[in-house]
Amino acid sequence: MSHLIAPSMLSADFGNLQRDVNMINKSEADWFHLDVMDGVFVPNISFGFPIIKYIKQFAQKPLDVHLMIVEPERYFEEFKNAGADILSIHYEASRHLNRSINAIQNLGMKAGVVLNPHTNISLLEDTISILDMVLIMSVNPGYGGQKFIENSYSKISKLKELIIKKNASTLIEVDGGVTLENSTKLIEAGADVLVAGNTVFSSSNPNETISKLKNKH
Ligand code: DX5
Ligand code: ZN
Repeated sequence: MSHLIAPSMLSADFGNLQRDVNMINKSEADWFHLDVMDGVFVPNISFGFPIIKYIKQFAQKPLDVHLMIVEPERYFEEFKNAGADILSIHYEASRHLNRSINAIQNLGMKAGVVLNPHTNISLLEDTISILDMVLIMSVNPGYGGQKFIENSYSKISKLKELIIKKNASTLIEVDGGVTLENSTKLIEAGADVLVAGNTVFSSSNPNETISKLKNKH
């Protein structure tokens, strides 16, 4: 499978949201990446249900929703109703990870687990076989436009080894500081999905930048 591109709407222009959604629709991007922040789990607040519903109205590609919130299980059903296709929760925010993964999948969504930069891959040994996706944070979550943490390459490789060892079909997504320069190395390390906010939306031609990210190998 060739890798997937998921532009992060956190860096979109919210005054021209429909325009930016249409740009993604027409581009070679595969998913919309939506970052939900509650100001408690991370030191920033982003957006919630109304914006997700608005994007869903126009989006012609799956919504990949990344929850950076405490007690995410309280809202699974509402995120499903808002239009989430893939729902990812942080390992660090979940007390009953196995139960939460089952709950997300029973609602008909794909389930992902997100690891902060300090969280070790080995903690997923007992969960990997039921996971649709693991998201490796390559920055500390909370903001777009931060610098990529170099240790992320080895985390991706270790995760890939674990997936192969367990004969799982889990996708590896990487999020934070992804650029045209580091994307080839990330794909080589084993990443299946690249999230990119700043790289896409701060470029002079976002559509072309998405195409460049998509055609890296
Ligand atoms: C950060 C978010 C990211 C963010 C990535 O907490 O999870 O999805 O939008 O932005 P860039 O690509 O600019 O680092
Ligand atoms: Zn994200």
